[in-house]
Amino acid sequence: MNALQKDLIRLTEAAERQTLPDSPWRLGLHLMPPVGWLNDPNGLCFFRGEYHVFYQYSPFHAEGGVKFWGHYKSRDMISWEQCPVMLYSDETFDVHGAYSGSALCEEDGMYLFYTGNVKHGGDYDHILNGRENNTALACSPDGVQLAWKRLLMKNTDYPGEMTLHVRDPKVWKQDGKYYMVLGARTRQDAGAVLLFASEDKTRWEHINTLRTPEAFGYMWECPDLFEIDGQWFLAVSPQGVTGKGPGLENVYASGYFPLSGDFRNECALGEFVPFDFGFDFYAPQSFSDGTRRIQIGWMGMPDAEYSNPTAAQGWQHCLTVPREVTMQNGRLLLNPVRELETLREESWEYSYSGKRTIDLPVLSDILIACEDGELSLNLSGVSLKTSGKLLILTVQEDGYGRQTRTAPVERLKNLRILADTSALEIYVNGGEQVLSVRWYPEGGRRTLTLTGKGSAVVCRLRALRIEKYALS
Ligand code: FRU
Repeated sequence: MNALQKDLIRLTEAAERQTLPDSPWRLGLHLMPPVGWLNDPNGLCFFRGEYHVFYQYSPFHAEGGVKFWGHYKSRDMISWEQCPVMLYSDETFDVHGAYSGSALCEEDGMYLFYTGNVKHGGDYDHILNGRENNTALACSPDGVQLAWKRLLMKNTDYPGEMTLHVRDPKVWKQDGKYYMVLGARTRQDAGAVLLFASEDKTRWEHINTLRTPEAFGYMWECPDLFEIDGQWFLAVSPQGVTGKGPGLENVYASGYFPLSGDFRNECALGEFVPFDFGFDFYAPQSFSDGTRRIQIGWMGMPDAEYSNPTAAQGWQHCLTVPREVTMQNGRLLLNPVRELETLREESWEYSYSGKRTIDLPVLSDILIACEDGELSLNLSGVSLKTSGKLLILTVQEDGYGRQTRTAPVERLKNLRILADTSALEIYVNGGEQVLSVRWYPEGGRRTLTLTGKGSAVVCRLRALRIEKYALS
């Protein structure tokens, strides 16, 4: 262990010993940082019977700072253990941040591929000069303690057509070979994904570049390439596509392209489909636990014009709940993993025709069946209403700058709303669309007003259990 790592561990432990002020916005259903700032989920995997969630973590500052890999693990995605930070930025190749990446589980341990970020001080643009985006590999034999890490690739190992922005390795094994996708920005300011292959996880060869015929944004962050029922999908978080319609209303977007052909050779990307139509969703990653594909996203948005008042309380942001990814008619459906249903404690049924007001528990799972395709609802300052073929989400109160977003919905049949203290995940028509939003109502009461015709079931939920990992 080097001196920098020793000090970073000491400083992180001291930061985590602080008691954050009591707040009605501390989350009950969503993973949040112990202290400080959280962004992208990283290294999601199912390793020796446990789910591991790493995340971009800045424990010293609620507005962000140097990034480490924070860590939670769980047997059931309901009770979580807060584990020690797995990756600190303590080597020359990752000194300004252990940036995003992924996990590969092997017989002999967990391998973590990530980006070592280096940003040189001086008069640089940090796009074509003054920056290093290194690809690094770390190994943890038990999934909790780090054994070693090393540099795999530098910017000079990537195709010359790329700027210095090449990051966020996602790695998987297929037919005895390892594959890696990296998000990139070309010198022509187009988003692209670099595909590398390796026989041994350490020596990598560039074998393809995936892109659209016309530039779709200038940078693609956090790529993910996966297959469901024989269909391949390339997921990316593109920057520079704002204002092009529903799902592209945020400063940065996140979604997927269905891929036809062989990703290793000739292939084409279909039409981009946004993953989420709300305000707070970015940089998702998916993994398989052997039976299904699960996605977790960052329930936040970099460089957004809206804010989160919890920053003044010493923490900011959370992850979405784990979402199960399935395919229907070539499109992805996203729904909370079924384990979350075990959080349901009590439920009440209502029918409504006209207007009905319901008092809600703060943590609730709300299932609404809509009879005539039209609905207007208000949940303590957040409203949703159908308007032709659109569903309109408006944060009327306590949105800290959040206003309106829209989702295309042919005909509204049902909604499921997972309501947390300061986060809502709204699943439309069995997961055809999702809208994620943070909002900050004061006080401990929630009221739901429904207008239209249909029925609703409200389930009170108990909170996730999070305990601190006991170091032996
Ligand atoms: C996406 C991202 C990644 C990067 C990480 C740094 O939100 O910008 O591209 O690796 O965050 O925290």
